Amino acid sequence: MDQEQHKLVFLGNPRPPHAHASQHIPCYHSNTMTKAIFITPLNLTTTTTNSNNMASPTETLLSLALHLLNHIKILELTVAFMVFIAIHTVRSKKHHGLPVYPVLGMLPSLLSALKTNTYEWLTQVLNRQNGTFTFKGPWFTSLNCIITSDPANLEHLLKTKFSSFPKGEFFRDTVRDLLGDGIFNADNEAWQRQRKTASIEFHSSRFRKLTTESLFELVHKRLLPVLDSCAKKSIAIDLQDVLLRLTFDNVCMIAFGVDPGCSQPHLPDIPFAKAFEDATEATVLRFVTPVCVWKTMRFLNLGAEKKLNESIKKVDEFARSVIRARKKELSLKTHHDECQKPDLLTVFIKLKDENGEAYSDKFLRDICVNFILAGRDTSSVALSWFFWLLDQNPNVEERILEEICRVVNQRESSKKGDFGNSFIFWPEEVKKMDYLHAALSEALRLYPSVPVDHKEVVEDGAFPDGTKLKKGTKVIYAIYAMGRMESIWGEDCKEFKPERWLRSDGQFMSESAYKFTAFNGGPRLCLGKDFAYYQMKYAAASIIFRYHVKVVENHPVLPKLALTLYMKHGLKVNIQRRQFPEIQKYFD
Ligand code: HEM
Repeated sequence: MDQEQHKLVFLGNPRPPHAHASQHIPCYHSNTMTKAIFITPLNLTTTTTNSNNMASPTETLLSLALHLLNHIKILELTVAFMVFIAIHTVRSKKHHGLPVYPVLGMLPSLLSALKTNTYEWLTQVLNRQNGTFTFKGPWFTSLNCIITSDPANLEHLLKTKFSSFPKGEFFRDTVRDLLGDGIFNADNEAWQRQRKTASIEFHSSRFRKLTTESLFELVHKRLLPVLDSCAKKSIAIDLQDVLLRLTFDNVCMIAFGVDPGCSQPHLPDIPFAKAFEDATEATVLRFVTPVCVWKTMRFLNLGAEKKLNESIKKVDEFARSVIRARKKELSLKTHHDECQKPDLLTVFIKLKDENGEAYSDKFLRDICVNFILAGRDTSSVALSWFFWLLDQNPNVEERILEEICRVVNQRESSKKGDFGNSFIFWPEEVKKMDYLHAALSEALRLYPSVPVDHKEVVEDGAFPDGTKLKKGTKVIYAIYAMGRMESIWGEDCKEFKPERWLRSDGQFMSESAYKFTAFNGGPRLCLGKDFAYYQMKYAAASIIFRYHVKVVENHPVLPKLALTLYMKHGLKVNIQRRQFPEIQKYFD
């Protein structure tokens, strides 16, 4: 219907000539405005069809006006409602940091953030909200939680009131399929028992010896030959993949006494690695999906849950093969072997549970999977982000090289050797590399391997910043955001500046664990922190001393949404052998 016809209808000439009323009743125009206008006079005419009771023009106009008023009311109400929602949403954004939609809460913002860099988005919201905000999920879902990046709150959560903030049932339920009852997913006595056993092992002299021996083997016989081959053939390589292989072999060697051989120079195919990454990714998806939804999908074996189920089967297969191999070896051991201090897995195999029974294979599987998650992914992704940052900050790379050379230069000349691939850094030299330690800490500040972590409130209380905490509330601490808060690190918080970690004499200066939370803090502080620094420093120094690592131009670098901060597309790099004069200049 065109504009002219509209006008006619308005003027009380409702029917097109010869048309019957019933023909006009249905909604024959998709345009609501047209429909509203047409129906009004039509209804009017049905009450005035009797020619004897012909209404006067004034009456007709009056009725028409009344009907119009009715429809305008509906329109007005709809518009008013929408304006109310818009104002409410804008005001709620001001108060809560994000728009709160009726029924859906903040879910629409979260869903659109999931398509981009979710951690950056969270950082911006927390910055706007002075470090703490309440996420309101859709009605009747389990997505409500408090998110914080405030160091005072973190100290309260991780140390002062440690026992009031366990991981909690929600977290355990969400990650149980992958992590079972392992250390990352345990509370109270179950956690204490594993922590104590692992802590004794991690602080033993055998562990330290194994650390240096295994790293020598892995770096010099596997990592460097792989890089050398890439340099010679001028082919690009995914450094993150190579590092994941290295740390996977390393954690299996030190924790389970087995060598899977994934980082061997021919880089064998390992279905476990892909399955493990897929499993952590699908597990994280559960945190942003209403519980009833993912549980139904799990029941029906659909979508991400199907993928998770398949990945976990492959992960289990690997863990079970490690346990089988270890048990078989134990059964063949001589008395002399028995007297040697065993690895962590063997300690657990020999240990008895609270009922005096040997631990089940299922529990041993959980131990393996948790330690692989702890030791494989964390240091390798940290090293990947570190090399990417070095590529963008060549001045930092040069300072690291200068430090390595200075430290090595302190050796007696007879022990300096020819700096070839067999040149080894001594443990005490690695410890002296303060600038490298600072640069790795700075990389972890900006790209923490564990970007967010989770706790649950078990008794009513409040955070030091005044946020009320109700029993059962979930608390997320945003480690990624913490590294990027001006209030914590100052105006240059987004810059990569290892110097912020150094005293004026150049010595490394550690930060409070509640400000730099990359390794967690309090009683659940990362057990592998010292090992991880040694491992990262040894591998990084060995690479930087010999090679330039150049990120392939236009390679997309983005974090992946998973339990660990993987680079979504890996890190494609070209490797170039350093020219001798580049290091020689520091020895002159
Ligand atoms: C850059 C390297 C690493 C980072 C950033 C890191 C970070 C963390 C974080 C944030 C936690 C707390 C997790 C939680 O409770 O939810 C943690 C716990 C833990 N980490 Fe690490 N980690 C690293 C390397 C390692 C390595 C190499 C190992 C062992 C081989 C290890 C062993 C552990 C263990 C056993 C725990 C559990 C502690 C507990 O719950 O009591 N970590 N780590």
